[in-house]
Amino acid sequence: MKRWFAVIGDPIAHSKSPAMHNGWFDELNIDATYIPIHVKSEQLEHAIASLKTLGASGWNVTIPHKQAIIPFLDELDEMAEKMGAVNTVVRTADGKLKGYNTDGSGFVHSLEEAVGDGQKEKPVLLIGAGGAARGIAFALQYYGYRNLAITNRTVAKAEEIIHELGEGQALSLADAEQRLDEFGIIIQCTSAGLANGEFSLPLSLEKLQQGTIVADIVYNPLMTPFLLEAQKKDAIVVTGLGMFVHQGAIAFNHWLGQYPNTEHTTKKLIDELQ
Ligand code: ATR
Repeated sequence: MKRWFAVIGDPIAHSKSPAMHNGWFDELNIDATYIPIHVKSEQLEHAIASLKTLGASGWNVTIPHKQAIIPFLDELDEMAEKMGAVNTVVRTADGKLKGYNTDGSGFVHSLEEAVGDGQKEKPVLLIGAGGAARGIAFALQYYGYRNLAITNRTVAKAEEIIHELGEGQALSLADAEQRLDEFGIIIQCTSAGLANGEFSLPLSLEKLQQGTIVADIVYNPLMTPFLLEAQKKDAIVVTGLGMFVHQGAIAFNHWLGQYPNTEHTTKKLIDELQ
């Protein structure tokens, strides 16, 4: 029987996940399909019951359901539990629903694909303390990046994540700007600059050192204002596209036990986004 998968969210029409996963099914000759389903918050419980009844093998979860879905699941993977958010649901052999979070690991895979995995001793600065930053912070810790600082407009939120991690430091944006030259890896995880298409950086990159690894989690546009500014200062830039592709690839692997070809997918998406 043909297996089927989905992504649920609101909005969902512009999701690039269906094309990506269906492309992998084709490449790997897997008889399955992946569809987008528009689910509003008030419909979430019904939608999950329907996905179960109709026999979905698994699904991705996007905004605004990543936290709200948790009470409807039977089990959580360790990382999803720590993050308090789920982006991937697996229907296990005995029909249970298990939640995973592949966003943070997707970021780390993408970073290591771009610059290798020999950078774990470098001090890392995470800018932002929302859901995305939180996932990345836990994943960085899990993969052995031990020297972590988090800066955020609202410092209390950065302090909260540091407290949960049990290590690292929280900084004000002003302090982070002053101490920018201490960091070997800087990761932009805020939504600054996205609203109304306005140009704004979460913090000044004046003190950025040449050769610093600078990543953004936003991938549309591929080169964000933050990355363009970092590139002017000869940083090594890592776009957010890899995180998107790898969070999908890790989810795919949870469902089907195979890691798809991410290089090919990334090239295709770059062509679409440029
Ligand atoms: P996400 O789930 O994508 O992380 P979020 O939880 O709404 O989204 O978090 C948005 C992040 O962007 C927060 O860190 C937010 O800072 P605050 O916690 O102080 O609100 C940050 N952010 C949004 N607009 C910003 C701006 N103009 N300057 C600096 N930080 C900004």
